[in-house]
Amino acid sequence: MLKLVSAKAEKTAQAIILDGGAAIAVAGDITNNEAIINLIEKTVGFSGGKIHIIVNNAGYAWDDPIEKIQDKQWDTIIALHNTAPFKLIRAAAPYFMVKDGESRSIVNISSTSGVYGNAGQASYALAKAGLIGLTKTLAQEWGPEYGVRVNAVAFGAIKTRLTQAPAGEYVVRPDGTKHAVGFHGGYDEEEKWVGDIPLRRIGSPTDAAQAILAVVSPLFSYVTGQTIMKVSGGKGGM
Ligand SMILES: NC(=O)c1ccc[n+]([C@@H]2O[C@H](COP(=O)([O-])OP(=O)(O)OC[C@H]3O[C@@H](n4cnc5c(N)ncnc54)[C@H](O)[C@@H]3O)[C@@H](O)[C@H]2O)c1
Repeated sequence: MLKLVSAKAEKTAQAIILDGGAAIAVAGDITNNEAIINLIEKTVGFSGGKIHIIVNNAGYAWDDPIEKIQDKQWDTIIALHNTAPFKLIRAAAPYFMVKDGESRSIVNISSTSGVYGNAGQASYALAKAGLIGLTKTLAQEWGPEYGVRVNAVAFGAIKTRLTQAPAGEYVVRPDGTKHAVGFHGGYDEEEKWVGDIPLRRIGSPTDAAQAILAVVSPLFSYVTGQTIMKVSGGKGGM
């Protein structure tokens, strides 16, 4: 599994390099402490001892109605969406608590489920709401002295692997079992979903990535502690 993920990430890194950029791919399970340390070490080794941006993006949902959620489901989702971002940020602290005048930014990927709730997604909604609290707190801790900006982006419907019709793709849970991604029909059946989206289309990965790029860019230099509500084509209220 790690080899497969590694190959995908490596392909992306190569595309960036071919386009004139610089990149490395570091695969690993972000709920594993050693993977976090490895990620920080490889990043610092690659970048000449500095880190300027973290995007806490890894995630999936393991949904059920509240009365059916098992402890393992709950613990896995909180570990992935809350504990892992916290541990990654904590491990990166020496590279963010720096007074060199350079711009630094952290983006935590939230969801409309964390803002409004979503029936059947109690663990995911709680975790995505939790990221908003972490965002606001960190903005207050690392803003005054170090100028670090910390924001969250709450996505609505984005057509990705996670939201496609099941195609046999999976992620591996911390206990080694497989978790299939996708849901019946998926956002591929776009016409079923767009009725209450003011822009009348599902978002693309490019739509999502551009919003994150905007937040980390100098155009957002005076924005911190915010949740960009919502990158959803307008769904969920204007
Ligand atoms: N797609 C949507 O509609 C949508 C909406 C709101 C929020 N989100 C959030 O956006 C983020 C990205 O999701 P996506 O839709 O691009 O799905 P995706 O499945 O395409 O991407 C998720 C990535 O997270 C990685 N990942 C999962 N568990 C991991 C782990 N334990 N360690 C390391 N990496 C791990 C996967 O390998 C994958 O690369 C997630 O946090 C998701 O909750 C997505």
